[in-house]
Amino acid sequence: MDRVQLDELTLVNFRNIQKAVIQPCSRFNVISGQNGMGKTNLVEAVYLLGALRSFRTTKRSELIFHDAPKAKIKGRFGSLLAGLNCEVDIEENSRAVTADGKRVSASGHHFQMLPMVLFHPQVMELVQGSPDARRRFIDRALFQADVSYPSLFKSYTRVIANRNRILKDGLPDRRALYPFDLQLAELGAQLVRLRYDFIKLMEPFFIEAVTKISDGGTASMTYQPKIEGDKDAFLKALDARFQRDCALRYTTGGPQSDDVLFTLNGHEAKKFGSQGQQRTLVLAAKIAETRALTGSTGRIPLLLFDDVSSELDKGRNRHLFEFLQGMGGQVFITTTHRDYIHIDGERKDFAVEAGGFELLTE
Ligand SMILES: Nc1ncnc2c1ncn2[C@@H]1O[C@H](COP(=O)(O)OP(=O)(O)O)[C@@H](O)[C@H]1O
Ligand SMILES: [Mg+2]
Repeated sequence: MDRVQLDELTLVNFRNIQKAVIQPCSRFNVISGQNGMGKTNLVEAVYLLGALRSFRTTKRSELIFHDAPKAKIKGRFGSLLAGLNCEVDIEENSRAVTADGKRVSASGHHFQMLPMVLFHPQVMELVQGSPDARRRFIDRALFQADVSYPSLFKSYTRVIANRNRILKDGLPDRRALYPFDLQLAELGAQLVRLRYDFIKLMEPFFIEAVTKISDGGTASMTYQPKIEGDKDAFLKALDARFQRDCALRYTTGGPQSDDVLFTLNGHEAKKFGSQGQQRTLVLAAKIAETRALTGSTGRIPLLLFDDVSSELDKGRNRHLFEFLQGMGGQVFITTTHRDYIHIDGERKDFAVEAGGFELLTE
């Protein structure tokens, strides 16, 4: 199976990394170092090449080494993307991306070309957190799985913002809202359908993973739309919510407030799951995301696991490594203790200290 494979990464003035060139291997890359040394910074840089945004901040200035004017991330990819050079230039007020010298926009093609799955300590929010953490999960996956999703998502977000602006001003004229209702219904119905279908695609992988990790227990992952159905169903629902929307002064229904429900043995995991069970579900959800994305994009996503040992206990770690071993694909794992990482097979170890990387040889 083809994979997203980073053959060389060059960083200049990215966070605390003033200059680094690393050549990862095609399978396991283990980055170890004490806290505050730059492990997450490296993961953030790799992720940025695919997602074109950071998972930690929306402030570009934070990504640039203190007092430097700009940061640069350069990735040379191999495998099916043989020779692709992707560059991200970050300045305080701008960000420019090129692939083989050509300007890249934040479109579905880029995300589909370089799918990545990220697992980091805050990922527990997926079960424990508020619905927006779950919407981010499904949206992020769909940005990569479906070429049409990024622009659909953007258009929908714009319609909601415009509709909410009218509602916020108070006493909206129903006719003034109608053009927005039409667009909302059209785009919202498509968005819900794509999310619903992708959750359905992931669910069997999710159930299988939960069974493997926890030796029993039945789990489910279901999309919970506030409004579902076609355009007409949306229009009807908007009509029914009109008074409430006016009273609350925002759009109360639609995919912008939908949720994903995780259950274990018939009970909502967020409310009734133990910490251990919640961890199992989160790990299973990331496994499901990886497998579903592999199917949709025709390639194994690049897998980024930041500081997993802190979130997963021994048993779940073992399961994770088994999964990664069987999945194939290129993996980056960061850890404070490299002896925690039990992996056989092709592996490169890097030590990081104060933003400097060194290849370790046994
Ligand atoms: N823009 C920046 N310029 C210089 N140093 C930075 C910048 N942003 C973060 N850092 C430093 O990076 C370090 C944290 O790196 P991080 O990758 O999060 O550590 P860890 O190895 O624990 O994952 C901290 O020492 C922090 O001060
Ligand atoms: Mg870290």
